[in-house]
Amino acid sequence: METVRTRPGAGRQGGSGRRLTRRQAVGALVAEAGGSPLRRTMGVGQLTLLSVGATLGTGIFVVLGQAVPQAGPAIVVSFVLAGVTALFSALSYAELAGMIPGSGSSYSYAYATMGELIAWVCGWCLILEYGVSVAAVAVGWGQYVNELLRLTVGVTLPDALSAPPGAGGTLNVPAALIVVLAMAVLLRGAKESAVANTVMVTVKIAALVMFCAVAFTAFRAGNFQPLFPLGTAGMSAGAASLFFSYIGFDAASTAGEEARNPQRDLPRAIILSLVLVTALYVLVAVAALGAMPWRQFAGTEATLSEVLVRSVGGGNLWPVLLSVGAVVATTSVVLTVQYGQIRILFAMSRDGLVPPLFSKVHPTTGVPRANTVIVSAFIAVLAALVPLGSLADATSIGTLFAFMLVNLAVVLLRHRNPDAPRSFRVPFSPVTPVLGMGFCVYMLFSLGADTWIAFAAWMAAGLAVYGLYGIRHSKLDHGAGPQEGA
Ligand code: ALA
Repeated sequence: METVRTRPGAGRQGGSGRRLTRRQAVGALVAEAGGSPLRRTMGVGQLTLLSVGATLGTGIFVVLGQAVPQAGPAIVVSFVLAGVTALFSALSYAELAGMIPGSGSSYSYAYATMGELIAWVCGWCLILEYGVSVAAVAVGWGQYVNELLRLTVGVTLPDALSAPPGAGGTLNVPAALIVVLAMAVLLRGAKESAVANTVMVTVKIAALVMFCAVAFTAFRAGNFQPLFPLGTAGMSAGAASLFFSYIGFDAASTAGEEARNPQRDLPRAIILSLVLVTALYVLVAVAALGAMPWRQFAGTEATLSEVLVRSVGGGNLWPVLLSVGAVVATTSVVLTVQYGQIRILFAMSRDGLVPPLFSKVHPTTGVPRANTVIVSAFIAVLAALVPLGSLADATSIGTLFAFMLVNLAVVLLRHRNPDAPRSFRVPFSPVTPVLGMGFCVYMLFSLGADTWIAFAAWMAAGLAVYGLYGIRHSKLDHGAGPQEGA
């Protein structure tokens, strides 16, 4: 049995109740990030592209097939509503990322404001937002590769090798393959990963712009009459389904220790990427709905490609180009989100809440190597064996929970550390972050009971891990961590 050593003065922290609420000091977190062994290579452009890379992916290429039947042409408004929900949280992320520019994202913000237990809960939610969503997106990647094979050479991979058990197969090999390929890039270093990401983001934006240009040639204003055939309730349900497509704009907040000027650039990158993505999504939605009547969206999978096939004609050329874009898009989501998961665990490991192996950095590449391999293996197994199904909902619930905590952290930090340097301030606080929380709660309650049950089980497992490991190994207990009295 291991003895817990407490730092001098920790007596006033009392028993386990106080341990759960112990907090890290903001100033010490900033200093810790300043002395990070990770390499500072990224500017505002690359940080923005990191967030866009993590956001623009499976969602926009497949989500309209499920969301349009819920909302009708009002899906265009749903995109704006989901974008506004994301924007409120993005403002809070921007303030906190500029203030605490580490690699831990909302986990670190929660640690500085609400104490260790909530920080752990937040970190555990982030595994849903990052790790589980990579698995989901990797499954989507495999589907697009199959679609591309079908369109170009007329063959598809057998189900046994391209679907998980329970969905007619034994192993989803392509999904696992893309995770392993992303691992190979990530092991080379953050700069190399950022260069690969820049190329891919350019390709996927080009693919969506091409889609808009081609689809607008078949535009019919009559497709938007009536705008709200399923009422405002349908429009909100559509927004909840679409939320998945906005997840990822916060990815820049995991690169605080690899940014050249994090205080200035992180807030800019987060807001810029969200504005860019929202504008593109609304444009794609207007083009898609203008080209194909809303009732025809039901049941489509490669939806955007389907819009081109049915409304524009001209053979396979456009669908093939679009599918290439979709494969590239999902590749960059896998790469950037896998990167984010690794950095979050890096921060948690440095704090002692997960084993030290996760924060060991390779001396020549500057990459947390063991962490990269373990996380990638975990995601690859998940991608190979679990069907897409509820993975997206699990991602959404974890993300919304983390976003809610980030909004709350802004309010608490304004109260507790009013004079701490902030390179970006959320306008009209506390009204804006409180509204941000409200939007998250609203979205959380629009998710189904099954998702809530799965979430409760996931959280129970997380609390068990914390109780068995984190609480006893926390650096705050060993006197090495940056502590602030609870
Ligand atoms: N927003 C990411 C996507 O749509 C998760 O792929």
